[in-house]
Amino acid sequence: MTSYKVGYFVGSLSSTSINRMLAKALVRLAPPELKFEEIPIKDLPLYSQDHDADYPPVARAFKKAIAECDALLFVTPEYNRSIPGGLKNAIDWASRPWGQNSFARKPSGVIGTSPGAIGTAVAQSHLRGVLCFCNSPLMNNMEAYIQFRPGMITPEGQVTEESTEAFLRNYLNELHAFIVRVLTVLPRDV
Ligand SMILES: Cc1cc2nc3c(=O)[nH]c(=O)nc-3n(C[C@H](O)[C@H](O)[C@H](O)COP(=O)(O)O)c2cc1C
Repeated sequence: MTSYKVGYFVGSLSSTSINRMLAKALVRLAPPELKFEEIPIKDLPLYSQDHDADYPPVARAFKKAIAECDALLFVTPEYNRSIPGGLKNAIDWASRPWGQNSFARKPSGVIGTSPGAIGTAVAQSHLRGVLCFCNSPLMNNMEAYIQFRPGMITPEGQVTEESTEAFLRNYLNELHAFIVRVLTVLPRDV
């Protein structure tokens, strides 16, 4: 069995984040080939190009954590119909300095939940555009716009609805297949 390390970002800094609950559920439901590890974004300062000549240790560690992953998963809320600022800031750090873009050729997936009926669809659409520019091969299908209902996932990541659990398992299996396909074409050591 070939296993793949998947670094995941939670796009929310909230202590009661429903997207963190979703991330925990995904970790619980993942097929054995996918080993998930969170890459935290909360300690990154605001990005400025002034840092490019000498990244601070926290940003170096952040880029190193990404480099050590085979693939990435973004689990994010939608803020004002777009990407939360904290997550966008993290992406900007990772994409620089120029010529050292951490996302290049790194397969990724996007998922998110919100109480709203369209379940983060607009934020995901914006994020897809950003990841496309950052040259990350992105799983186009399946899409996962999860409308969060109270109690649907516990804070520990236990999914209480059978249909939601089946959907998330399916998403993870598709993500696994996508990662295998991308890394077959673009091997990890290239
Ligand atoms: C600043 C802000 C903007 C928001 N904008 C949206 C939005 O555009 N679309 C949406 O579905 N929910 C929006 N919400 C509601 C969030 O979906 C909800 O707060 C959700 O719990 C955030 O995810 P989290 O719990 O993982 O932080 C917004 C919430 C905040 C705090």
